[in-house]
Amino acid sequence: MPPLSNLATRDVETLVHPYINLANFRETGPLIIERGQGVYVYDSEGRPYIEGMAGLWCTALGYGNEELVEAAAAQMRKLSFAHLFTGKSHDPAIELAEKLKEIAPVPISKVFFCNSGSEANDTQVKLVWYLNNALGRTRKKKIISRVKAYHGVTLVAASLTGLPGNHRDFDLPLPGFLHTACPQAYRFAAAGESEEDFATRLAEELDALIEKEGPETVAAFIAEPVMGAGGVIVPPKTYFEKIMAVCARHDVFMIDDEVICGFGRLGTMFGCQKLGFRPQAVSIAKAMSSAYLPIAAVMIPETMYQALLAESKKIGVFGHGFTYGGHPVSAAVALKAIEIYLRDRIVEQAAARAAQFQARLNALNAHPLVGEARGIGLIGGVELVADKRTKRSFAAAHAVGARAVAFAEAEGLIVRSVLGDVLTLCPPLIISAAEVDDLFERLARALDRTLDWVTSGRIAQE
Ligand SMILES: Cc1ncc(COP(=O)(O)O)c(C=O)c1O
Repeated sequence: MPPLSNLATRDVETLVHPYINLANFRETGPLIIERGQGVYVYDSEGRPYIEGMAGLWCTALGYGNEELVEAAAAQMRKLSFAHLFTGKSHDPAIELAEKLKEIAPVPISKVFFCNSGSEANDTQVKLVWYLNNALGRTRKKKIISRVKAYHGVTLVAASLTGLPGNHRDFDLPLPGFLHTACPQAYRFAAAGESEEDFATRLAEELDALIEKEGPETVAAFIAEPVMGAGGVIVPPKTYFEKIMAVCARHDVFMIDDEVICGFGRLGTMFGCQKLGFRPQAVSIAKAMSSAYLPIAAVMIPETMYQALLAESKKIGVFGHGFTYGGHPVSAAVALKAIEIYLRDRIVEQAAARAAQFQARLNALNAHPLVGEARGIGLIGGVELVADKRTKRSFAAAHAVGARAVAFAEAEGLIVRSVLGDVLTLCPPLIISAAEVDDLFERLARALDRTLDWVTSGRIAQE
């Protein structure tokens, strides 16, 4: 291992990084990114990379967008901070809430601002508990999420998340948070089971779980339209229609986590529109400001708002809010980002680009290391396996996904590896046709190098 640069050494001695083996990291050090332009970022040595993950599924409009920079600077000069507590307000928050109501995928009464996806999902759960207390349903409090879901890392959001690394030794999930089956056909459909039959079985399993717990104790179900960090899992046909029917039958509130899928990722403004379901409440973040500044929101239906009114009247206060919720500079940037999505037809463009992206992604299924390459819109997952026929995964200790990520970086491409050696792809929505081709050529070379490494180390045989 070459010695770390001065900057890398300073990093290792000062920062705790999320989502890394902290012990190994002391040897490898960080990849330090210095600047970005379009779909490219440049490291501290000046090397360019295609940002194949749009940062963390978020920089939808790419880097160096002057309009967004200007929107932030102008707002910062005018009013650098204002809050929404105790009856104060400001223009950018009002305008942004109006715009969100206008583009929302379902009728929305009000918008509550927060700063991250985790805060949005924590807020969703608190609001559902508040709602059921307002309705006198004091036992209806359990929340159902799914195995492999990702909803964030604060205590409640991490409890909703269905990944072992987010629970183990954090004493999570909290009581009252349950996980139903994951809608991943490649891993969990029975042999010969059709997509529709798999979806029916998943809905039956959810129904059975609610019956077992007692419908009078189950408050809400939360789902991402397409699961992102769990490995880019596109549900089988008819899944949401069947799941929604189960929720409706048991009066279970349906929360749609659009933190990744919102703002065009699947080729529609919201993911639920692509997958054909109508949730009751919606969480948004990430691409809402193209990640130029942190901002997130909960979209609240009228029934929920009426409950908030009743409870706050009874208690005397609606006791929830974040200092930076609806920050005027973030709100101004989000407003500008939404203006760009609509004005430049970014969502339609993403839908058009998706055909090429999905064709290139699908072609990776022929690669000897790829068990399944899957996706929709401009998002994809490439699951690496030791044996294509049996779908056997590599032993986690070999860290084959991490190795492929390193080879991709050497090829000038940033991708991510998540649980089970799934490489994830989620480029900025503004990616051009030539850049999509370039991305997949770099990825193919990285996969070939990974295959050589696996073969020469005889790793697949273990
Ligand atoms: C679907 C989904 N929900 C929630 C979150 C959490 O968002 P944050 O990291 O902003 O708290 C994420 C983050 O990746 C996400 O992908």
